[in-house]
Amino acid sequence: MTAKSKIAKKNPKKVAGIIGLGIYLPKKVLTNSDLEKMVDTSDEWIRTRTGISERRIADEKEVTSDLAANAARMALRDAKLEVEDVELIIVATISPDVPFPATSCIVQAKLGAKNAACFDINAACSGFIHELTIAQQFVESGMYKNVLVIGVELLSRFIDWKDRSTCVLFGDGAGAAVVAPVTTGGIIASYLGADGTKSGLLICPAGGSLHPASHKTVTEGLHFLKMQGNDVFKNAVRVMTGATAKVLQKAGLTTKDIDCVIPHQANIRIIEAIVERVGIPSEKVFVNVDRYGNMSAASAIVALYEAVKEGRVKKGDKVLLVAFGSGLVWGSCVIEW
Ligand code: UT7
Repeated sequence: MTAKSKIAKKNPKKVAGIIGLGIYLPKKVLTNSDLEKMVDTSDEWIRTRTGISERRIADEKEVTSDLAANAARMALRDAKLEVEDVELIIVATISPDVPFPATSCIVQAKLGAKNAACFDINAACSGFIHELTIAQQFVESGMYKNVLVIGVELLSRFIDWKDRSTCVLFGDGAGAAVVAPVTTGGIIASYLGADGTKSGLLICPAGGSLHPASHKTVTEGLHFLKMQGNDVFKNAVRVMTGATAKVLQKAGLTTKDIDCVIPHQANIRIIEAIVERVGIPSEKVFVNVDRYGNMSAASAIVALYEAVKEGRVKKGDKVLLVAFGSGLVWGSCVIEW
């Protein structure tokens, strides 16, 4: 036996999986009929064009890191870990507390997770799949054992509440997962992609080096989210269909092997179009966009949490997550639960 194979035998390849999940959803519910009083829209339009009935809105005293820390505490309890056990915190968000420092550092302080390294990622609605894939690399390389990944958004502070084409779509929320080595199941395959040439389709134009905050940027509402909905819709269907096929191919699986699909929850019509193209029975697809709207980086992880709690994902099941968002970026992964 060579020295290399002796080391390999002593240190068999680690497989990363999720050992704990948590969520936090603000209490305040904003219904479609509430929105009818705010902009020229209707419950009928919102439900038929998006599938959304209501969404959560954070209390004015809450900030993004509060939502994140609440979800994280639940995930740590679920994983039966102490806060000191966390070695890395990754926060995925496009609605941070402040442009800098990283929201993950503020979350670290709120949790008292003094042994953790921290950084944020900006992968919009694909944030959870991106951070899960990053955490997988740290865990499987042996660099860290317990990685806390959090997908969180407080988009209600980045929305133009006078713009009916966007304000009806989004909601606030947070989800957290603990990623660690597992002896059964775990992450089977992941795939990430991007197309920066389409970065203008979904953007917050001001507040960065391009358009620093000024009276003009405020007057013109450039600190709000802007979206070319139709183009985003078409790209979402195309790339999420492709990302589903790609990750199945990487995993050596077919749609028949998948027990539950968790697509990004932006619009029921996008989900239906992907389901039809990929050829997955709709009863295998988890949907909660009706209750929360699009929570961007928090959507997939909150949906995963609910799918597990509702018994839609059981031990040994294969779950496929697929998401897409501003960037444009996208990602998919298959996990054996
Ligand atoms: O998380 C990833 C990023 N986000 C997404 O994936 C969202 C992708 N896009 C979408 O989900 C859809 O494009 C929307 C829901 C945003 C819009 O649906 P659509 O079927 O693409 O509608 P549209 O933008 O083509 O607008 C159709 C009509 C327009 O009126 P006219 O020009 O035909 O007279 C809009 O002004 O609907 C009007 N409209 C509304 N009417 C009532 C747009 N928003 C509203 C509204 N209420 N809230």
